[in-house]
Amino acid sequence: MEIRTTGVVGLGTMGAGIVEVFARAGLDVVAVEVDDDLLRAGRKRLEGSLGKAVDRGKLGVDERDAIFGRVEFTTDRAALARADLVTEAVPERLEIKTALFAELDALCPPTTVLATNTSSLPVTRIATATGRPDRVVGMHFFNPAPVMRLVEVVHTVRTDADVTAAVRALAEKCGKTPVVVGDRAGFVANALLFGYLNAGARAAETGQAAVADIDAAVVAACGVPMGPLTLMDLIGLDVSLDVMETMFEETRDQRYAPAPLLRRLVMAGDLGRKTGRGYYRYDGSETIATLPAPDFSTGTARPTSTVVMVASGASALHAAMPELELVEPDETADADVVIIDGGSRVGTAELLARVVRVTKAGAVVGVATTDEAPVLAMTAGLADRGYIVGVHRPHAPRGGVIEVVATLHSHPDAVATMVAATRGAGLAAIACRDRPGHIVDHLVLPHLGDAVRMVDDGYADTNDVDSAMRLGCGYPEGPFAMLAAVGADDTRSVLSHLAAATHLPSLAPSPLLDELAAAGPDPG
Ligand SMILES: NC(=O)c1ccc[n+]([C@@H]2O[C@H](COP(=O)([O-])OP(=O)(O)OC[C@H]3O[C@@H](n4cnc5c(N)ncnc54)[C@H](O)[C@@H]3O)[C@@H](O)[C@H]2O)c1
Repeated sequence: MEIRTTGVVGLGTMGAGIVEVFARAGLDVVAVEVDDDLLRAGRKRLEGSLGKAVDRGKLGVDERDAIFGRVEFTTDRAALARADLVTEAVPERLEIKTALFAELDALCPPTTVLATNTSSLPVTRIATATGRPDRVVGMHFFNPAPVMRLVEVVHTVRTDADVTAAVRALAEKCGKTPVVVGDRAGFVANALLFGYLNAGARAAETGQAAVADIDAAVVAACGVPMGPLTLMDLIGLDVSLDVMETMFEETRDQRYAPAPLLRRLVMAGDLGRKTGRGYYRYDGSETIATLPAPDFSTGTARPTSTVVMVASGASALHAAMPELELVEPDETADADVVIIDGGSRVGTAELLARVVRVTKAGAVVGVATTDEAPVLAMTAGLADRGYIVGVHRPHAPRGGVIEVVATLHSHPDAVATMVAATRGAGLAAIACRDRPGHIVDHLVLPHLGDAVRMVDDGYADTNDVDSAMRLGCGYPEGPFAMLAAVGADDTRSVLSHLAAATHLPSLAPSPLLDELAAAGPDPG
């Protein structure tokens, strides 16, 4: 079965991109919208995208014209009858998709393959709206479709193997890398992505850190192209909300229950980049967070000339900031900033008790904190705790990021001073509240744990998972490569702690993660 002519219904963010992918691959495309205005808007999207490619010298004018020549823009769905495969990119609502598939089933010859670009809805349910469930598949592109190489090809229990093979071949012909999977909510990439995105949305809403700081921390920690809030703005907050709703309905996992503010933003019509406003405002080249930054992150850094470290041999913070001068606790009298890391909570608390006896008034003291207990537990009995902050080095696939942890008592200026001091040591630093996992461990490690669970469940293999996240979401490396960098053992212990602290059983390590942790690092 060879697919030469394709149809695309819905020419929004995704549909216009899919038209471009097909037409660039030399296929004829019937591009359909609901009315003339939307059709014009869809055509403009394609013109804009191809125009940019021409301006950048990546596409010749003749090629552009040839691509346009292969596309028939129409509001007449009957024109889809000449397509070998029709795919849709209409809103992520089951009732809209099932109604459309029933109509396509009536319009198209029985051999036509019907594909859905759904991000999370059951392909099986969409297929049952037709009389040809054996010819219905998911063909899930990623945003922007012309750029992202991943296509998830989703077969149901009814899909004919030849149809799956033909759609896989079509994806390859379009220069994409297909990952073929069964029909499970969110498939590979979104099932992994949206728990993490929602954790980012909740962190922003509950003021764990400023919006831009949450994004910056994850980017620095993982090398991903953008943080969770920027990514949701790109995907569209309405689409993100719809996907989370479906994921929650299918899994009943609280982690997918959409952050309340996400729903409010959608109600307000703030849908992200496409409306110019979401978690950020997009004014020309400037992006400004729309949520006010939490108070603890709005202090003023004091001028500092002496930043020193009091650390034991096992200090992770010293390893991160090796150029800081190491001193004994009683040599800290002149320091403006002292960072203390005793290698363990007890060790750090002992050093802290010695340091605070000698530091001058106004000196900011940072204590190494772990994921296990609040910073304040280490400062019990100390008189003035406003100048004490936590300093956390997350379990990041890439080093280079420090979380400055504001306790209930920390003065915002002390937080800002420590942020400036750690940035001075060459690290990306952000301010956050003292909560289990802080920002990076709380967002990223469950994301890695979910990837391991997906493989443990037998839904996809490690290559599929890594390819999906690299080619669909632009990750520099997949979750399993990140897990190897962080260490399965550390990931496992942080997740055990997070599951207990948050009472969310789905955060607990899966048996495969236990096994990987027990196996130790791969000597190769
Ligand atoms: N945005 C993303 O990042 C992304 C990525 C992958 C998959 N998807 C999926 O692609 C689909 C479309 O998402 P989008 O971001 O392109 O949305 P969009 O809102 O940009 O576009 C939707 C298009 O559907 C048309 N439409 C609206 N109601 C319709 C109806 N009743 N019948 C037919 N057409 C109708 C609209 O005119 C619009 O052009 C969704 O299923 C979404 O989950 C989105």
